[in-house]
Amino acid sequence: MKKIIVILLLILLSSLYGCGFSSSDNTKDDTQDNTQTQQKDDSEGPKEEEEVQETTTSVEPENNQTSAQAPGIPTPVRTLSSDNGDSLILANKQYALSSTFVPTDLVAVDGSLSTNQGIYFKREAYDAYLKMLNDASAQGISFCICSTYRSYNTQSAIYNNYVASYGVDYANKISAYPGRSEHQTGWAVDITSKSMNYGLSQNFINYPEGQWINANCAEYGFIIRYLQGKEDITGYMYEPWHLRYVGVDVAKEIMSKGITLEEYLGVV
Ligand code: DAL
Ligand code: ZN
Repeated sequence: MKKIIVILLLILLSSLYGCGFSSSDNTKDDTQDNTQTQQKDDSEGPKEEEEVQETTTSVEPENNQTSAQAPGIPTPVRTLSSDNGDSLILANKQYALSSTFVPTDLVAVDGSLSTNQGIYFKREAYDAYLKMLNDASAQGISFCICSTYRSYNTQSAIYNNYVASYGVDYANKISAYPGRSEHQTGWAVDITSKSMNYGLSQNFINYPEGQWINANCAEYGFIIRYLQGKEDITGYMYEPWHLRYVGVDVAKEIMSKGITLEEYLGVV
């Protein structure tokens, strides 16, 4: 019964698909929700991030703690169970969030600005994103949101999907184990554009939208969270589409120095 409801919801969501554009612009992935994966136009490089919608959740949290037994996933240094509102909160492979961690101050994202409907974002980060989008639009640059806050359960579904598709070693390079994703903090956003066919790919940095974001996001308080050449520190492949809100002063320092949030916080 639960599966039937989920399928019906997915059909409904598909009919709502869009980011101020026609669904005919997009290629659906029938194993996923209404955010498809862009296949790279070259044969090398990583497979791209896929997203699933809250309604596709099929994995229950094991318990209140993230598992330390998962292959390739270290025992957490600490596990936060509640949000203190700090925009510098760290969530990575070593610093965990419990299954009960839900951010405070989430606001609904305008569906016309996102490929996914019914998603939420930290208010301060969303305000900054809207300002960035507005200024970019005035300069002829257009992009939209793919993913913002993801619950522990949604992250479980995404991660397990990757493990099933690519194996755990590769999954761990592109997707966070449940409780280790900064999407769960509410401060992260994945951005795409029409030129990317609304998918997520490292190729984003070669398009005007990706370049504009890379050059200007710090002015609005965002950093590119998973940098090329810093994979050993972040634990993930380069993701030019994944922004993290940290506030303008910190973002400018991090982006001008070309460092990671881990380096800025001194936890490397
Ligand atoms: N793709 C990033 C690492 C995440 O899953 O949170
Ligand atoms: Zn992301």
